[in-house]
Amino acid sequence: MTLKTFLIGMLASFAVAWMFMIAIPVAKMGALPPVKMSAEEDAAYYQRQTSGRILNGAEIYASNGCYTCHSQLIRPTYLGHQIWRNDIAGVVNEDGDTRRETSVNDFDGEQYAQIGLTRMGPDLSNFGHRAEAYAAKLGISAEQWIVEHLHNPRNSELRRGEQGEKIDMTWSNCPSQPQMFDAKDINGQGTHLALSQKTDTGQQIVPAEQARVLASYLISLKRDDAMPESMDHSPEPNDEGK
Ligand code: HEC
Repeated sequence: MTLKTFLIGMLASFAVAWMFMIAIPVAKMGALPPVKMSAEEDAAYYQRQTSGRILNGAEIYASNGCYTCHSQLIRPTYLGHQIWRNDIAGVVNEDGDTRRETSVNDFDGEQYAQIGLTRMGPDLSNFGHRAEAYAAKLGISAEQWIVEHLHNPRNSELRRGEQGEKIDMTWSNCPSQPQMFDAKDINGQGTHLALSQKTDTGQQIVPAEQARVLASYLISLKRDDAMPESMDHSPEPNDEGK
């Protein structure tokens, strides 16, 4: 082999990888055209709403490494039966069935598509719905539930089963985030969102802004909104129409 063919071969092997891993994905995904919700002429465009506070929350989620254990990706049915997992892929209730696969448009407006590295903890694509359901069982707000979880994921007071029984969470390896909380003296009725737990010296534990912004992001995770027909990833109805 001459030096020239060696160099050309080496360049070609880099060029092929660059083409498939960078050039083609950027060309395909970099400038997705807006998609209409239906074939009708005056149909609205599909647009996922991601506001400033939610984007800030996504940054906090990224910088604390939540994506290393939590995915945000409902796999297509041919890669594993995820759509059938109610509450993970969407919700099924008397109003209908919102379960579907994740689409690239679910991450519109976000700086990164945080699909996650592993799934050591539950997939959070539709965690917003679960947060509301967990909180409703305790009669607290979803934000309050999340800040309690962020402070101590091993708190078994936070989960209730079907009959209202406590569920043991002491096994959880979701890391607590004490740096997102401040200890404050109690004045009067105490502070909004102060945790049920107190410090050893009797001070209240109050979520800092970081925890509240992260909670807003987690509540916003509802990636089961209606999609245009052209990219609808809902499961095909089976024989029983489900
Ligand atoms: C070491 C892996 C790991 C990391 C890192 C991690 N988690 Fe978790 N997380 C888990 C596991 C395991 C569970 C399931 C047990 C539980 O609910 O506590 C969980 C549960 C959760 C739940 C409840 C989900 C549900 O549906 O019940 C939320 C919300 C959550 N984590 C948020 C976070 C956030 C926010 C971060 C980043 C600050 C984070 N996690 C980082 C492992 C992790």
